Amino acid sequence: MPAKVKTVWYCTSCGNETSKWMGRCPACGEWNTIKEAPRERASSSRDRSLVGLSSPKPVSLKEIPVSEDSRMLVGNREVERVLGGGIVPGSMILLGGEPGIGKSTLALQIPLRCKGLRTLYVSGEESPRQIKLRAMRLLRKEDGEMEDNCTVLGETLVDNIIKYAQELTPDLLVVDSIQTIYTDSVESAASSVTQIRECAARLLRLAKESGIPVILIGHITKDGAIAGPKVLEHIVDVVLQFEGDIRHSHRILRSIKNRFGSTDELAIFEMTGSGLREVENPSEILTPMHDSTLSGVAVGSIVDGSRPFMIEIQALVSSAVYGMPQRSATGYDVRRLNMLLAVLEKRAGFKLSAKDVFLNVAGGMRVGDTACDLAVVVAILSSNFDLAVSQGSCFAAEVGLSGEIRPVGRIEARIAEAARLGYKEIYISSYSLSDDLRNKPHGIRVIEIKDIAELCRSLFRENR
Ligand code: TYD
Ligand code: MG
Repeated sequence: MPAKVKTVWYCTSCGNETSKWMGRCPACGEWNTIKEAPRERASSSRDRSLVGLSSPKPVSLKEIPVSEDSRMLVGNREVERVLGGGIVPGSMILLGGEPGIGKSTLALQIPLRCKGLRTLYVSGEESPRQIKLRAMRLLRKEDGEMEDNCTVLGETLVDNIIKYAQELTPDLLVVDSIQTIYTDSVESAASSVTQIRECAARLLRLAKESGIPVILIGHITKDGAIAGPKVLEHIVDVVLQFEGDIRHSHRILRSIKNRFGSTDELAIFEMTGSGLREVENPSEILTPMHDSTLSGVAVGSIVDGSRPFMIEIQALVSSAVYGMPQRSATGYDVRRLNMLLAVLEKRAGFKLSAKDVFLNVAGGMRVGDTACDLAVVVAILSSNFDLAVSQGSCFAAEVGLSGEIRPVGRIEARIAEAARLGYKEIYISSYSLSDDLRNKPHGIRVIEIKDIAELCRSLFRENR
């Protein structure tokens, strides 16, 4: 009699396992995501010996050796900063992002820039020839001449990947991507939750036992989950997310989880003809300087990660042609825009309900920081009156429902960044600064305002 195939049910959204089918996942609350899959064999000691791993012994915390300078540099200052100073040996880093955002490019740039770093680059997506062509482009070398530190392997079977990694003992292993690799020991198809989890678990064991750090590339779906299975997020040590608008050249690398550093870090890159360029001064690209002063433009301050930077907000207010006024926002929450418009209508007496309002955040960035409210309001007013705001002015405050200008966090850092970039004045809430801070020299004129009415008087006074 053939052995009965045992099955499990798991959620395709969060990877949670259940013992029977359910309409709704009890872990993540998603509907209709529970699927059946053959039960994977539990990793046995035979599996361990298969991949050449020994079973670990208990050790005293005191006796575990540490080396001072244990972080590995990757030849890319921004990536190192996001990682918290470099790659920790034996760590597993998940690099997630939408297809086409530049994950493979970023991973390949590491061995190309860091000549002493012996890297095994495994790709289940591109052939070694394609990778060579990309490397030539990145290095701008047409003759194909390059250092001998990067080995390429076109393989998708995880057992072989581990075998070669153990043979070559590289300083870094890159696996592109987790969705293309598979193992024979589970019966489901590549890129299913069971496969992804088993493959990641094996690579993790390799990393922990051999000390070879692994960068695992993963495609993420539109809603931001790393290929549905969030299972990977708690397996790995570091989760880096690569985001940005594919139509723009700017990319943001953010750390969502980091066992060896802060998750507050963020790096900005620009995709150029020869790969990703590190942008050390984000404000400079996000606030393009115009030749003439235009109406409908205001510069706001946002804090993303641990750094404040300045960003340009553009608004266009025009008479509504149809009965229903149009509202559209790119890179900004349209509900928040509607709220700010309602505040302007009520508190400043603008008849915005008869106007179309379009809002755009420069550089394809998405702004979530409410400190941008004031810049949004100013851009709208400026476009409405067709009066330009002085190029030397910038804004950092939240706008409340009754039209009051509210304080925002990290105000000192925001003022310092505005001063560093040469702005002449910054508008903030009158409740932001303590008395000591108010008397400190900031290198910039700090204008404190209480409400929308005071903003209009102060900003458009000379012109009206
Ligand atoms: P890629 O790294 O293949 O994305 P992912 O691995 O995340 O799917 O990057 C693909 C995009 O990057 C592609 O649209 C072309 C662009 N690109 C450049 O603009 N310049 C370059 O030098 C390279 C290598 C890619
Ligand atoms: Mg790729």
